[in-house]
Amino acid sequence: MSEVVSFERHDNIAVVTVNSPPVNALSAAVRGGIFDGVKRAIDDPQVAGIVLTCAGRTFIAGADITEFGKPPQPPGLAEVLSLIESSPKPVVAAIHGTALGGGLEVALACHYRVATKDAKLGLPEVKLGLLPGAGGTQRLPRAVGPELAVKMIVGGDPIGASEALKAGLIEEIVEGPASGGEAFARKLVAEKRPLRKLRDDDSKLAAARADRSIFTNAVAALTKKARGLDAPFAAADAVGAAIDLPFEEGLKKEREGFLKLMNGDQSKAQRYAFFAEREAAKIAGVPDGTKPRNVARVAILGAGTMGGGIAMSFANAGIPVTLVETGEDQLKRGMGIMQKNYEATAARGGIPADAPAKRMALINGVVGIENVGDADLVIEAVFETMAVKKEVFGKLDQYAKPGAVLASNTSYLNIDEIAKSTKRPQDVLGMHFFSPANVMKLCEIVRADKTAPDALVTAVSIARKIAKVPAVVGVCDGFVGNRMLAQRGKQSEKLLFEGALPQQVDAVVTKFGMPMGPFAMGDLAGLDIGWRSRKDRGIKSEIADALCEAGRFGQKTGKGYYKYEPGSRAALPDPEVEKLIDETLARLGRKKRVVSDDEILERMMYPMINEGAKILAEGIAARPSDIDVVWLYGYGWPIYRGGPMYWADTVGLKHIADRLSFYAKETNDPSLEPAPLLKKLADEGKTFASLAAPSKAA
Ligand code: 3HC
Ligand code: NAI
Repeated sequence: MSEVVSFERHDNIAVVTVNSPPVNALSAAVRGGIFDGVKRAIDDPQVAGIVLTCAGRTFIAGADITEFGKPPQPPGLAEVLSLIESSPKPVVAAIHGTALGGGLEVALACHYRVATKDAKLGLPEVKLGLLPGAGGTQRLPRAVGPELAVKMIVGGDPIGASEALKAGLIEEIVEGPASGGEAFARKLVAEKRPLRKLRDDDSKLAAARADRSIFTNAVAALTKKARGLDAPFAAADAVGAAIDLPFEEGLKKEREGFLKLMNGDQSKAQRYAFFAEREAAKIAGVPDGTKPRNVARVAILGAGTMGGGIAMSFANAGIPVTLVETGEDQLKRGMGIMQKNYEATAARGGIPADAPAKRMALINGVVGIENVGDADLVIEAVFETMAVKKEVFGKLDQYAKPGAVLASNTSYLNIDEIAKSTKRPQDVLGMHFFSPANVMKLCEIVRADKTAPDALVTAVSIARKIAKVPAVVGVCDGFVGNRMLAQRGKQSEKLLFEGALPQQVDAVVTKFGMPMGPFAMGDLAGLDIGWRSRKDRGIKSEIADALCEAGRFGQKTGKGYYKYEPGSRAALPDPEVEKLIDETLARLGRKKRVVSDDEILERMMYPMINEGAKILAEGIAARPSDIDVVWLYGYGWPIYRGGPMYWADTVGLKHIADRLSFYAKETNDPSLEPAPLLKKLADEGKTFASLAAPSKAA
């Protein structure tokens, strides 16, 4: 019937099947195909019931995001949904895989829904900076009540089939989508069940209409963490309209909100981030068809801060882990922390009550590196010293199985150098996780000189399997993220010498949308680490040194750049720090000046972007969007600003280059001069994006 939608009639049941890989997104062709299929079924006098289902791995996963921002092609989704809902014959959506966004909205316009038991149903539009634009905000509250609808629409996370069944979103859990949908449709026809149109059913709205706090409390709980984002608030307003207004008026409100978000800067940046994340999984320079090695078991060396978090990430994905330590005490400590972490999450309701035991059972704690023999991937997370790393990798040569991928979680050390300590450098690479490793999504995959393509593909694929976002980077000091961060650190310190205060700098950075400023971050990590390393290298940083000399190591001592009440992580400005800074400046004969917030922002961000340009020119990152992925998922860069390189393009590279030149002179710091690549792009009036293949994001 159409290339992407087929029509079959089985006796009196019509089966309309979407087949548009990879995810059956609602492109113009799919919308047209569904429209024609349903219309044909309605017009066919032999047909008494209609099933809408999908081939391939999933039910419709949403609108086709690549069409956003382009001129709309008929038929519109609203037109398709209206045809389905007004069909005089029952339409059943038969769901498997993920019914997301516009996909779930199609299902909600059907009269009944059934799903396989592993199906997921959700309205994740907020994650793209949008709200559901095809009736989802009006029909879902009518299907499941406003409380769960707010959770799904404002939070954006999908629910599973069993929760959907309980909530009344689906009627039945079925074995196969097509066969189950057909059987259900036959039953409807045989029983002459009435058509259930959600638009006409306000029964589940009654409670919230009588007591609006049911709705407002649900919204408050979900928007707590939505700082700076427009979409969650607009989505909540649209659900509010379902409670306050008749269906058609609610739809109109939803449409207005959707179009406003769609045309705004935030959604544009968030759609860019969606594709940047997927692009980052495609490794530049690896032959097509390179297959990952099989990874059935993983060994992790070191059960410290990082090793423990990494082990949890694998256990969370059901992959068994051998966790290796040097002694019983260290092992016991590490295992104990993981157990406590899991229990705390279960107590908060984050994971089921039986999950801690199940997940801990996947982690086999052992003493001695000789136990890594059955692992297909070994991740080293021992102390950050080259000598220790070399010793460990030397031993891996002896104990790891041939073909095992050997990864280091080093933050700064040279992986090429580490690889030299083994006879199998082709298997060595970096897998740089971020702390806390069980939470942070980024994994920088460091490609060393001799890393084999299939080892690299293995690391990228396993990172995705454990729900991390991989970004492939090259070898350099600090790789992409920490190397750029060092530039920000340098400027933040210099700003204190010029008259800014830690709280002023941090406030500018958090107002921009970062979760933390550099000084609060320093307090969290511990100021003594840098102090010791400076002493070892004979380097001074007078203000930071003075803080440490006064015993102010950060949160762990209750005092650092800020003070902390016992048991609290809230950073409180401390007049003692101001005094200490003033005294240090007086001792050094430095004059304070008023530093503006604008200057702070420029000096925090532009030097990082400059470093990003160097990273691109050196080929350490293959694409500007890979750098953005590193910052989005490793450092909490606000997603509505796309990432530092994306944001730089929106500011304008000419402006950034000019300001860097200005600060280079003004602060007598030649390292701030614009990098050659930045200067070239600025002079040519180009963007970082011009360096990349055209993005799918509009
Ligand atoms: N439109 C266009 N392309 C899409 C897409 C979409 N909605 N969803 C996924 N794709 C593409 C990806 O870009 C990727 O392409 P590539 O292979 O060329 O890189 C391919 O499909 C496979 O995607 P994933 O790598 O993400 O595959 P997974 O199996 O890991 O995940 C998924 C599948 C859960 C469906 C995930 O892709 C996803 O979350 N997609 C987005 C879902 C979404 O946000 N839907 C709402 C869209 S907005 C909307 O519907 C508006 C409506 O209210 C009007
Ligand atoms: P940690 O000190 O908390 O843990 C290291 C663990 O390794 C200790 O428990 C130690 O007993 C164990 N260990 C030492 N030698 C060993 C060996 N030969 N075999 C098995 N275990 C051994 O250190 P942390 O913070 O977990 O760091 C580990 C690595 O991860 C370092 O390379 C660090 O640079 C890197 N990293 C650290 C981050 C952080 O924020 N802490 C972030 C990203 C990377």
